[in-house]
Amino acid sequence: MEVKTSLLDNMIGVGDMVLLEPLTEDSFLENLKNRFDHNEIYTYIGSVVISLNPYRSLPIYTPEKVEEYRNRNFYELSPHIFALADEAYRSLRDQDKDQCILITGESGAGKTEASKLVMSYVAAVCGKGQEVNKVKEQLLQSNPVLEAFGNAKTVRNDNSSRFGKYMDIEFDFKGDPLGGVISNYLLEKSRVVKQPRGERNFHIFYQLLSGSSDDTLKKLKLDRDVGKYNYLSLDSAVVSGLDDAANFRTVRNAMQIVGFMEDEMQSVLELVAAVLKLGNIEFKPESRCNGIDESRVKDKNDLKEMCELLGIEQSVLERAFSYRTVEAKMEKVSTTLNVAQAYYARDALAKNLYSRLFSWLITRINGSIKAQAKTRHKVMGVLDIYGFEIFEDNSFEQFIINYCNEKLQQIFIELTLREEQEEYIREGIEWTNIEYFNNAIICDLIENNKNGILAMLDEECLRPGTVTDETFLDKLNTVCAEHQHFESRLSKNSKFLTDHSLPHNCFRIQHYAGKVLYGVESFVDKNNDLLYRDLSQAMYKANHSLIKQLFPEGNPAKVNLKRPPTAGFQFKASVGTLMGNLQTKNPNYIRCIKPNDKKASHVFTESLVRHQLRYLGLMENVRVRRAGYAFRQPYEPCLERYKMLCKKTWPHWRGPAREGVEVLLTDLQVPAEEFSYGRSKIFIRNPRTLFFLEEKRKQCLEDLATLIQKIYRGWKCRSHFLLLKKSQIVVAAWYRRYSQQKKYQKIKSATTVVQSYARGWQARKLLRELKYQKRCEEAATTIAAYWHGTQVRREYRKFFRANAGKKIYNFTIQRIMQKYFVGLKNNMPSMSPVDKSWPARPYLFLDGAHAALRRIFHLWRCKKYRSQFTEEKKAVYEEKLEASELFKDKKALYPSSVSQPFKGDYLEINKNPKFQKLNSALDDKVLLADVVSKINRANGKGSARIFLLTKKSVVLADQKTGQVKASVVLSDLASVSVSTQTDGFFALRLKEGTASAVKGDFLLSSEHLIEIITKLHRVGAANADKEKINVDISDEFLVQFKHDKVCVKFIQGSPKNGNNASCKRKNNRLLEVSVPNTPSTPSTP
Ligand SMILES: Nc1ncnc2c1ncn2[C@@H]1O[C@H](COP(=O)(O)OP(=O)(O)OP(=O)(O)O)[C@@H](O)[C@H]1O
Ligand SMILES: [Mg+2]
Repeated sequence: MEVKTSLLDNMIGVGDMVLLEPLTEDSFLENLKNRFDHNEIYTYIGSVVISLNPYRSLPIYTPEKVEEYRNRNFYELSPHIFALADEAYRSLRDQDKDQCILITGESGAGKTEASKLVMSYVAAVCGKGQEVNKVKEQLLQSNPVLEAFGNAKTVRNDNSSRFGKYMDIEFDFKGDPLGGVISNYLLEKSRVVKQPRGERNFHIFYQLLSGSSDDTLKKLKLDRDVGKYNYLSLDSAVVSGLDDAANFRTVRNAMQIVGFMEDEMQSVLELVAAVLKLGNIEFKPESRCNGIDESRVKDKNDLKEMCELLGIEQSVLERAFSYRTVEAKMEKVSTTLNVAQAYYARDALAKNLYSRLFSWLITRINGSIKAQAKTRHKVMGVLDIYGFEIFEDNSFEQFIINYCNEKLQQIFIELTLREEQEEYIREGIEWTNIEYFNNAIICDLIENNKNGILAMLDEECLRPGTVTDETFLDKLNTVCAEHQHFESRLSKNSKFLTDHSLPHNCFRIQHYAGKVLYGVESFVDKNNDLLYRDLSQAMYKANHSLIKQLFPEGNPAKVNLKRPPTAGFQFKASVGTLMGNLQTKNPNYIRCIKPNDKKASHVFTESLVRHQLRYLGLMENVRVRRAGYAFRQPYEPCLERYKMLCKKTWPHWRGPAREGVEVLLTDLQVPAEEFSYGRSKIFIRNPRTLFFLEEKRKQCLEDLATLIQKIYRGWKCRSHFLLLKKSQIVVAAWYRRYSQQKKYQKIKSATTVVQSYARGWQARKLLRELKYQKRCEEAATTIAAYWHGTQVRREYRKFFRANAGKKIYNFTIQRIMQKYFVGLKNNMPSMSPVDKSWPARPYLFLDGAHAALRRIFHLWRCKKYRSQFTEEKKAVYEEKLEASELFKDKKALYPSSVSQPFKGDYLEINKNPKFQKLNSALDDKVLLADVVSKINRANGKGSARIFLLTKKSVVLADQKTGQVKASVVLSDLASVSVSTQTDGFFALRLKEGTASAVKGDFLLSSEHLIEIITKLHRVGAANADKEKINVDISDEFLVQFKHDKVCVKFIQGSPKNGNNASCKRKNNRLLEVSVPNTPSTPSTP
């Protein structure tokens, strides 16, 4: 469903100034500012669009926006330039009304941008197709070409159009574009030779220098450096945000699209280059003999290059800069030019060259874009022309521009009122006269053919005699003095005589938009716009087809002595044509406003905007629009919008819409004088009535919205509840089904498990039984098999060769062992334990057994040998064994003692009567009796003594008498000391403090030393109550002789003293025993 919207929806401020209440300049400004701050740059005054330059790109020109505004009523959406373009296009297409879109505003207000937006919108919404698209493209691409040649950077605008442009776009009956015609007005050609500070020459000069290839530049005899050209200002040669090189490519491309041939483009560039060269030509004075100053070209290089470029003979042009030929009454008079005149001529030529080139370009573009079909066209004109200009110094240009704007205002008033009147008649509403200011009187002041300012100027220019700006002002002062919109200090009107704000060389005009002071300086010159004939003839002679075309008056065959029309005259004529053209069309206005002069976004300078709204006459516009009824609307949309305000019309009105509106307004008690009923529209006189309706509607909408919300919420909750209920049943059913299913599946699976267990158990039981049975069978079979095998093997073993080896081996081993044992038996060694012989081992593998047998045999032999011993012999061997333990490897004497049997009683003391007395003196049985040598303690000489040993004591007795000399109880004996050598010396060392120790220790010598010591040791050991007697074996020991401790030292003596050891007391402390050095006999084991 299409939603009907209105301009009144979501308005920021008021979208249409007609609805402004109260209407004052301040409220107007406030409303504009409010909207501008909210990015609403467009506002309506009825069907007029006010456009504020945002100075930044807004996202409001997208294809989506185009679609939004397409085929919508003008007041349906918020104000937009697209709404105006759409309205114009639709009434052109559907109602066959030619349209014109008049875009005005001051420099930098966004006129050119607006014209491009309108064109691009129309291009987007009109028909499509290959041919149509080509036409569209050509129309759109004419813009970059014209902008390059006609636009320049000024202090107000980086891309300021320095010409007025009117473009007629032609459409066929379907609304498809067929072509167009462009008209230009008043190119600011003075810019070619001089630019104000901070401004540039036309873009094309800079684009050519920075964008063309080196090759092209060479061909054009140009240098890339801007500083080399007098006509190009240096201070703003580079404009930020403007890429001249890229733009040059765009321009060339656009020229191609528009249909320029390659050689045409080349010619155009040559002309541009020629203008630059021309600027570099300088003159110097040269005095002639008649005293008149003549000018000469200073450096002819630039002149030469320029002439080469344009194919002009250098001398012809050079002469044209030095002389001026005036023809009068068929007579030619040549006068010389001084330097100033030469410069004037040069600049005039440059300006003419460029402005004619520009006009040629427009003609050429028109040739390309003109509609082919000859049928009647529908036309949409777009006028992009300077707005009203009020500068500090206003000259001829501003005068002309302001005149144009007066004419446009006149048309505006005329057409608006006419439209208003037509509408009233159409709607059958009574026409009441509207009070407004008609500026026809000002237009008359300027353009009146008899005494208008322009006519005066022309008259002055054509008048013979001295003509100056002052004479022109004088003329004005006399002719226009009475005019109520003309003011001059020197006029006959005495009111201005004392007006000091009015200088003498100025006049002031009260324009509809305000008073403007014009300085008359160079009015005459600018109006004349003269180019010396010599120059135009020189140009015509050029060997360059384009130049020839541009200067047709130079053709000597068509010498026209009539003066060319003045600039003012030309402009008036073209404005007249334009106005005639516009009057036949339905006007659409776009009034552009510049919010600040810093080219900055978001900045709204109130004073500047106030100034513009004054001279654009916007307040006047609103007043005219509101003169009758401020607001009108067809009945249907009106009823649709406000029907909710009355119960009878809400929600549906069944009857005709007009009656519905009547019922509605009566019900709302709107006073009758506030509205009128037209045939199809309701007319509302005051905006406040409209706002009253709007306010009511807003309240009502809120109530309706609440009601809708209430019902919607109730419906939503109920349907939600019903849905929940329904869902709950479905969910419950599904859940029950699901839970039963689950339960069933659980039981089913449990049964299956139980079953499977039971079956498994049964099966395993059966399997076990079967396995057992099988094993029994297998066992029986195995046993039977083994049994049969055994039987068979038994039967066949004899035939097995495999067993033979083992048998042979066993047999051989048996035989070897047998032989070995028999051999061993036959070769047994003797039974002597010391016999070490043993038969050799016959086989290596018997090594272990052979050694074991030898050891066993030896042990057995020893056992046998031991078993033969008597008790006595056993005792003897025990003693021998003890002797061995005591002395073996300790004393050298021992080996010789081994073979000697221990006799014990060598003196046969019991039998020998000689010792009877001695024997009786002994308390016990004699264990050993022998003769020993007792060493004298004093001198070391020995004396024989009988040595007796009993179980209890040692007795020393005289050998001859048998008298006991000393008796030592064994318990007094501390130790026995012997040497390690072959001697028989031994010392009996007594315990200190005993009775026996009075005389000291005994040093004795015996041949049976080993036996004596062994027995002494044995007796000591046998006596359980006594301590064991220690035997010290050492070659040096201490003995106690009475009170002296004497060291007994054994030394190796020479054998000269015989084999006996000799003893000698050396001193108190030393007793030296010299032992002969005899080799020791090997000891028995
Ligand atoms: N609708 C817009 N959106 C964004 N920028 C804009 C718009 N209109 C104008 N401008 C900006 O302002 C600059 C000046 O606009 P434009 O050239 O259209 O001014 P003009 O009225 O044609 O001035 P002149 O009289 O000097 O030719 C543009 O170059 C552009 O940057
Ligand atoms: Mg412009």
